[in-house]
Order: sequence, then C-alpha cells, then structure tokens
Amino acid sequence: MSGLVTEIIKKSGIIKIYKQGAPSVLGYERETFREPGAGQVSIRQEAVGLNFVDTYYRDGTFPVRSFPYVPGVEAAGIIDAVGPWVTDFKVGDRVGYHFIPGAYAGQRVVSTQQLIHIPEGVTSEEAAAIMVKGFTARMLVKAIHSVSKGDIILVHAAAGGVGTLVTKWAKALGAVVIGTVGSEEKRKIALANGADHVFLAECRDFVSRVAEITNGEGVDVVYDGVGRDTFTHSIELIKKGGKIVLYGSSSGQPEHIDHAALRTRSITMVTPTLSAYIPDYDTLNEYATDTFDALQTGIFGEVAITRYPLSQAMQAQADLEARKTTGSVILIP
Ligand SMILES: NC(=O)c1ccc[n+]([C@@H]2O[C@H](COP(=O)([O-])OP(=O)(O)OC[C@H]3O[C@@H](n4cnc5c(N)ncnc54)[C@H](OP(=O)(O)O)[C@@H]3O)[C@@H](O)[C@H]2O)c1
Repeated sequence: MSGLVTEIIKKSGIIKIYKQGAPSVLGYERETFREPGAGQVSIRQEAVGLNFVDTYYRDGTFPVRSFPYVPGVEAAGIIDAVGPWVTDFKVGDRVGYHFIPGAYAGQRVVSTQQLIHIPEGVTSEEAAAIMVKGFTARMLVKAIHSVSKGDIILVHAAAGGVGTLVTKWAKALGAVVIGTVGSEEKRKIALANGADHVFLAECRDFVSRVAEITNGEGVDVVYDGVGRDTFTHSIELIKKGGKIVLYGSSSGQPEHIDHAALRTRSITMVTPTLSAYIPDYDTLNEYATDTFDALQTGIFGEVAITRYPLSQAMQAQADLEARKTTGSVILIP
C-alpha cells in the first residue's frame, strides 16, 4: 500500500512532443519525477506561462535539441524539495523562472541559477502571466525606448499578452497609445486596457487615421510583435527620427525591409531579444523587481488571465495561433 501511495505522489502531468508539427503533436503524459541534485530544487508548479515562442519550438520554426521535447519556458510554484548546496532557496518558497525550457509540467527540477523569488501578495498565476510578457514590456518601454509623457506610440496586437502590458505600462508613463487589433471584441479590450485609439489592423483607413491623430508627423515609436502583416504600415507611420521596434513576428517575418526608406527618414530599427537584455542574475532581479512592482502598484490593473488545464496545451496553442486569445494565457497543471 505505501509503495502505491509513493508511486501516486511521485507522478505528475507533463506535455511532450516526439516530433515537430501541428498542435496535435502535444501529448499529455504522466511521469515519475526525480529528486533534485546539487544546486537544484524541485518545484510543484502551480501555473505555466504560454508564450508565442512555444509554438515556434513545436512547429519547427526553432530547432529543439532532442526528442521527446517538453515545451514551455516559464512557470511559477512552490519549492517542495531542495538538493545539496542550495543556500538561497528553501522548501515552501514560492518561486518562478522566465526562461528554462521544459516548463509544461506539474512538477520539475531546475537549477537555482535563473530562479526568482515571487513577492508576498503575488499569486503563482499572476507571476506566470507577467514574467516573460512583463519583462518584455519593461524591455520595450524602458530599455529600448524610455517612454515618457507625451510620446505617441503605436502597439500592434494591443489586446495580446505582451501588447496588453506594453499598453498599460506606457499609459502609466504618460504616453498616448494607439493600438491595432484583429477583431471588434479585442478593440473593446484594448480600449479598456487604456489605449487612446484602437483600430482594426485590417481597417483600410487606419494609416490615414494615425496620420490625423499625429498631425501628419507620425508616431515616436512603433512596437511591432506581428511582423509580416504590419511591418510596412509600421514604417509609414513613424515620424522622422523615430523608432521601429520589431520584437516578434506572430504573422511571420516581414517579407521586405525597405532600408532606403528607413535611412531617408532617419528611422532607427531595433530587433531585440529579451535574453540579450537580461544577461545576468542581477539584471534578472532588476527586471523582476520592476515588473512585480508594476503589478503591485496597480500599473497592470487586474491582470487579464485566460486559463487552460495543462492537459489542454494542444487547444491553448491552437487558440493562440488562431488569434483567439487575449491577455496572458496560462496552463494549470
Ligand atoms: N523579442 C523578445 O524577446 C520577445 C519576448 C516575448 C514575446 N515576443 C514576441 O511578442 C509577440 C507577442 O507574444 P505573446 O506571447 O504576447 O502573443 P500574443 O500577442 O498574445 O498573440 C499573438 C497576437 O498576434 C496577432 N497576430 C496578428 N497576425 C497573426 C497571425 N497571422 N497569427 C497569429 N497571431 C497574429 C494576434 O492579435 P490580433 O488578432 O489582435 O492581431 C495574436 O493574438 C510574439 O511575436 C512573440 O514571439 C518576443
């Protein structure tokens, strides 16, 4: 009997893929988990963040090292076992991580090198919803361009995960935010998030409306995480000396980049990745502190979270790719 109990306790749900492809390659299994080794802790994961990049590792856009591969990069939960040589973390601590591949699981062992403490008062669900997306938002509104009062910025996919947090943070810094979205329902959400003007991305007169709002000058910065479908308009809408920040490509990579147009109007183009902006543990802590502060001081308001059971990761990724989700999506083990 006690053997059976041990067996039950030591198994947890996990998502694995054995080849890259459509969302249907995401299979749910139950797996026995191991004890932490030196410098490692075991985490009972309460919430796993779903990010667009997860779809790239699944569909083959990005390579994976070997199969079976466990998708996902971020999660939050409670430490339930600690290995030798661990000093800064103990059993019972609530922790999170924003980029350790292999996150789609109920239980996992990780090294403490990229682990952060979750502040008192922040739930695991909130943490999983705002680590990758909130750190990215911080990179965009503080490191790449220091958004200040009166800046006019354009945010594509303004009701999405990163887009929602960029909108809220930029508004708190005093910017005028123009958003684009893929549906009328998302338009309402982006306006409720605080965006000043929101247009359907496919709306014909969108370019002329932005020109009107900016008195023909264009916006200071475009935050473009969509890529192929928005990039050309993005360039048209930036003022002389402004900035295009191409930080993602949910619709695919832009087919053509008109460097002459960028040069003529002295537009700076930045193509940032979060890992380059968080090179070490001290910077990670700065990003975490700032982002959790943004949550706790109300800048993010009530975090918009959509939940799927971990076992439904296939549906969650399919919905993300089909532009059906808004805000931050998390998987609950
Ligand atoms: N550079 C970095 O380090 C970094 C870090 C994190 C995330 N990112 C990037 O940031 C972007 C946003 O990530 P997220 O996780 O927050 O996703 P998300 O914005 O919640 O979802 C993607 C959104 O892109 C829009 N979209 C437009 N055309 C699309 C298409 N053909 N297929 C799918 N989506 C389309 C959709 O919004 P509408 O329907 O409203 O248009 C969709 O909801 C992604 O490109 C991601 O790779 C980059």
